[in-house]
Amino acid sequence: MEKQEFNDLLQVKTKELDRIIQGFLPPEEGWQKTVIRAMNYSVRAGGKRLRPMLMLESYRMFGGKGTEIEPFLAAIEMIHTYSLVHDDLPAMDNDEYRRGQETTWKVYGEAMAILAGDGLLNYAFETALKAFDRVDKTDPEALKRVADALAVLAREAGIYGMIGGQTVDIEAETQPEPVTEAQLTFIHECKTGALIVASMKVGAILAGASKEQLRTLEKCAEDIGMAFQIQDDILDVVGDSKELGKPVGSDEENHKQTYVTLYGLEEAKRLVETLSEEAVEVYLKSIDGEHEFLEQLILMLSGRRK
Ligand code: IPE
Ligand code: IPE
Ligand code: MG
Ligand code: MG
Ligand code: MG
Repeated sequence: MEKQEFNDLLQVKTKELDRIIQGFLPPEEGWQKTVIRAMNYSVRAGGKRLRPMLMLESYRMFGGKGTEIEPFLAAIEMIHTYSLVHDDLPAMDNDEYRRGQETTWKVYGEAMAILAGDGLLNYAFETALKAFDRVDKTDPEALKRVADALAVLAREAGIYGMIGGQTVDIEAETQPEPVTEAQLTFIHECKTGALIVASMKVGAILAGASKEQLRTLEKCAEDIGMAFQIQDDILDVVGDSKELGKPVGSDEENHKQTYVTLYGLEEAKRLVETLSEEAVEVYLKSIDGEHEFLEQLILMLSGRRK
């Protein structure tokens, strides 16, 4: 696939995902409409929609053809967006700019941003549960696939996934001793890797992938997640805030130790490339099915500027 063709396809797919995600947002009405507006504000602000994209590509790669994936596409983006809304709070990374707009707490205040994050997390599961209405209720296998996908989503978002990683990330800011490689790997695998693993696994589970296929896919997703966060750390140093839609230099301000502080820019860049290549060459290519777009997407991410 030529670069231009890939870029056009990426644009079309992102637009389609946007349409699906926005279709699941709650109406801004009732006494609680302020929190709903704050929730929708952060989701509508945009973003790359990477997690739903990885989910849908995995689903299709394993032959998924139904619509029960759609509530999950919206749910993973709601969970990811909640993690950003909370990550930007003054008590966490204290950032004022996200997805090219003022952060939720800057616009709606801290209390409402906390509630909007809570709201998005909870609404994500209310949304994902709708997948049960989109499969054949007389087919126990189909029902089990939805239940299994929900379990993966719940676990990877929680204390053994994203929340666990954010916990160690915050603690590491103020610990007196230097961050170790093992600690940093844990942080990256959990705070960022977990939702990427969840995205790809949910897609594969819903499509009925085998246990062995899931294991290979998980390895692939772990590499993508690690590469993605290292590149995020790199962009925090050398990126352009306008292009990124979020501030640069936030990590230094917060005394975060990252792969860049631990190994330097060049080594960090090399790691991103190695991990991305491994994801494609070792894992993805060993899976039967159509994954040309996914391959290009993974390689594109390793050189991304936003
Ligand atoms: C930002 O994620 C937070 C990280 C896990 C690095 P993205 O870079 O995917 O943010 P959006 O969704 O495009 O805004
Ligand atoms: C965020 O890591 C990971 C999350 C779970 C939100 P960062 O704190 O580096 O993400 P950005 O740079 O603010 O997007
Ligand atoms: Mg953070
Ligand atoms: Mg942050
Ligand atoms: Mg960052």
